[in-house]
Amino acid sequence: MLSKEAGMWADQVQEKLITKMKAVVERNRNVVPYTTENGRFIDLTEKDINWWTNGFWGGILWQLYQLTGEDLYKEEAELLEQKLDRVLMDWTGLDHDNGFKWLPTAVAHYRVDGNAASKNRGIIAANNLAGRFNLAGRFIRAWNDWGDVDRRGMAIIDCMMNLPLLYWAADVTGDPRFYQIAVAHADTAMRCFVREDGSVNHILRFDPETGELVESLGGQGYGVGSSWTRGQTWGLYGFTLSYLHTRDARYLNTARRIAHYFIANIPESGFIPVDFRQPAEVTWEDSTAAAIAACGLIELSKAVGGRDGDVYLSAALRLLKTLDEQRCSWDSETDQLLEKCTAAYHDEQHEFTIIYGDYYFLEAVMKLTGKELFIW
Ligand code: GLY
Repeated sequence: MLSKEAGMWADQVQEKLITKMKAVVERNRNVVPYTTENGRFIDLTEKDINWWTNGFWGGILWQLYQLTGEDLYKEEAELLEQKLDRVLMDWTGLDHDNGFKWLPTAVAHYRVDGNAASKNRGIIAANNLAGRFNLAGRFIRAWNDWGDVDRRGMAIIDCMMNLPLLYWAADVTGDPRFYQIAVAHADTAMRCFVREDGSVNHILRFDPETGELVESLGGQGYGVGSSWTRGQTWGLYGFTLSYLHTRDARYLNTARRIAHYFIANIPESGFIPVDFRQPAEVTWEDSTAAAIAACGLIELSKAVGGRDGDVYLSAALRLLKTLDEQRCSWDSETDQLLEKCTAAYHDEQHEFTIIYGDYYFLEAVMKLTGKELFIW
């Protein structure tokens, strides 16, 4: 249970978020941000409207609307949602990340006011996601091919966060196929991605014809067999969400195993590395992993309750306090919130600002204050 002191801390951080984000949104109209340069968002509207992170700004806006009721946030969120229609009309822009794009935009809008056009967008996105299911391997194909590599058999742990689009579609249409596909993928992920020690693989390749598991690939972490931290958090939060949508205890136990592994590996400093198994001399961090882990741990804490729940909650608070004190830019003159975020270990650039880090930090704080709009 949240202590009085922790509750007061969360209220204060939420106030800081309201102040900071008002300045950021007023300065940034009609944008699709991913990262910043010199403290200013780079707009992806023309550069890359298909990018998988393009829904998170919508998530920030809907959460701010939920908190304040100010029309500014709703209007901006609606603009972004309409912009993403270009993606809905381009099959190359549609992939397993339909959940990341349309849950925090169209589906959030539908949850707020029942908007019919938003429901339509969400159901189209869910149908496309369901259509990626490989019947032989019982997994959802992650990406499309872009020429170099055969991606027909690739599935990634991140997809656990996209399944809620299918759970939502099953609810609103009454069609159980969406639910059946989500559960089939979650079962495969539980069996194939989660290792004995509670860590998770990032990318697995299945034979797309027979469905047989072929190999584990390194992905965005250090290498094969390593432990990319954001991937651990997609698993932690994703299995928790599958539990919340299905009440299947196997998913809860899987989320707990991943959580135990994650908590045991949090360094003394509280800063999360890009990979728990990166070489000791490498200091690259990924603040997004800390924020996503906190969201998963808070939900897990509520689901489990009791003393174990308190362990998850106190780990989440530790991560969030470290971010608040040492990794957040609270200056209203900068567009970014979280700093030292990393997309992938082997990229040239590390420790920059990434929009989903900001989103999940806001979501985590609003979970603590009880004000969150439930997006997933
Ligand atoms: N879904 C890709 C990532 O987490 O970077």
